[in-house]
Amino acid sequence: MYILGINAYHGDSSACLLKDGVVLCASEEERFRRIKHWAGFPTEAIKFCLEDEGISIHDIDHVTISRDPKANFSKKIIHTLKNSISISNIWDRLINSKKVSSIKGELAKLFELPESDIKATIHNIEHHRSHIASSFFASRFEKSAILSIDGFGDFTSTMSAIGDCNKFEVLDEVNYPHSLGVFYTTVTQFLGFPNYGDEYKVMGLAPYGQPKYLKELEQILEMTDDGFFKLNKAYFKHFKEGVAMDWEGGSPTIESLFTDEWCKILGKHRVKGDKVEQWHIDLATSVQIFTEKVIFHMLNHLHKKTGAENICITGGVAQNSVANGKILENTTFQNIYIPSAGHDAGTCIGSALYLYNQILGKDRLPEITTAYFGAKSNQDEITAVLERAEVRFTVYSDEELFEKVSNKLVEGGVIGWFQGRAEFGPRALGHRSIIMDPRRTDAKDLLNDKIKRRESFRPFAPSILKEAVEDYFIQKDTVPFMEKVFDIKEEKHKEIPAVTHVNGTGRLQSVDKNISPRYHKLISKFAEKSGVPILLNTSFNENEPIVNKPEEALGCFLRTKMDMLVMGNVIVER
Ligand SMILES: [Fe+2]
Repeated sequence: MYILGINAYHGDSSACLLKDGVVLCASEEERFRRIKHWAGFPTEAIKFCLEDEGISIHDIDHVTISRDPKANFSKKIIHTLKNSISISNIWDRLINSKKVSSIKGELAKLFELPESDIKATIHNIEHHRSHIASSFFASRFEKSAILSIDGFGDFTSTMSAIGDCNKFEVLDEVNYPHSLGVFYTTVTQFLGFPNYGDEYKVMGLAPYGQPKYLKELEQILEMTDDGFFKLNKAYFKHFKEGVAMDWEGGSPTIESLFTDEWCKILGKHRVKGDKVEQWHIDLATSVQIFTEKVIFHMLNHLHKKTGAENICITGGVAQNSVANGKILENTTFQNIYIPSAGHDAGTCIGSALYLYNQILGKDRLPEITTAYFGAKSNQDEITAVLERAEVRFTVYSDEELFEKVSNKLVEGGVIGWFQGRAEFGPRALGHRSIIMDPRRTDAKDLLNDKIKRRESFRPFAPSILKEAVEDYFIQKDTVPFMEKVFDIKEEKHKEIPAVTHVNGTGRLQSVDKNISPRYHKLISKFAEKSGVPILLNTSFNENEPIVNKPEEALGCFLRTKMDMLVMGNVIVER
């Protein structure tokens, strides 16, 4: 039985394919369209999934989409009427809902077929239930509490649940316009980072300041006794006016959300391009710490309510790796699971798993421990690309390759490392990565000069052999998807300065031999020569979505000053 899962008309649109409940492949649409966070209908990701398995749309039994226009419909109408939101805003949303409900039509158009030829059954799965399923059903936990937190989806921003085997039961929800995700986005916009997905910049800035604005933020978002929170509507435009959002093709946009009230208590908002002043940094620190408090408040309440040992986290706010890394220390939960794509892209898998487990009642399958579900290229495809581009290359045996690449790393080379299937989710995990020696004090400057040209305050991350995590980090846990930030042991800060953030933390990936054998082998080889079982890992891109195909990897290599490009067993050198 084939299920095609889709996230459409929302940020990070995506598609995946399941066969008898097993995820075979999955990709964000942005990887094909080459526009970050691409929203709209994921035609290229759908085509990729079918081609990858060698099947056609006629072989698909079910299509799931992680939106349900009917969910919370009465709440939407009441909110709209109560707040006299403009007709054009309602109209935009109705058009969007209509599209969500005509998936058969979209698929027919894509495959140039009459709509009656699309035989698959279409299932609309509510947004947060899709998030929850993407985490709980993918985890190893038979029983678990689950918390999904994001900006909004199907008029809900937060949902808690309790899962047992192949079912979960929703416990509580917080409805839009109250939203922790919107709160974080609003501060991000106030700090002069207006693009969709810029929240990680605020998270990167946070360790440089002091939490001086917690009192002010408490006026804006109040934690409530029911274990949740509410926003003070005087501070948000989306309560009254609604704000323009664009989820059509291209990168999503959200108009600025903050009202003039923010300036009264915090001062004038920063405009993109202005100097980042100390008080901006202090505000970034404050919103990060405050958001963590709100998350722990919700989790501790959820623990009391459920008594569960395990917790699954999901939703856009689950991308906050700094908060994720502190959950076990700050709550009474014992074990945690966060999927590789906790944000909206992951809801394609979630909606499909919801159908498989919750609706069809099928048994759970083993934990999803890998993120390597994306595009792949074999050696012939790689060499054909290089030949077409008239680029000189050499094919090496495995042994020669690992020797050569580890030598280049020790010499200080910046290497584009392209292997196997692309990662599903926002992090490069050693399949589409740029790698470097983490011991170099000049690594950040070198990388920013040679490739990234990004804000100097943003840290680079360590990939570490799973068996060495406890030697370098205070916390003990596996972190397969770079989804948590841990504290690096103080005595190790000087050893790996390139991946030690200003506050002594690192957003690690623990590399498992069975899941990432080639990446594990490379790090091991580097460790033999350097004594350090760690590589600096940053995504293989340059202000664009992560490279997906060999031609994009080569393009990035040629545009930048990278020293070496490794694709499969092929090496290109400058
Ligand atoms: Fe979401």
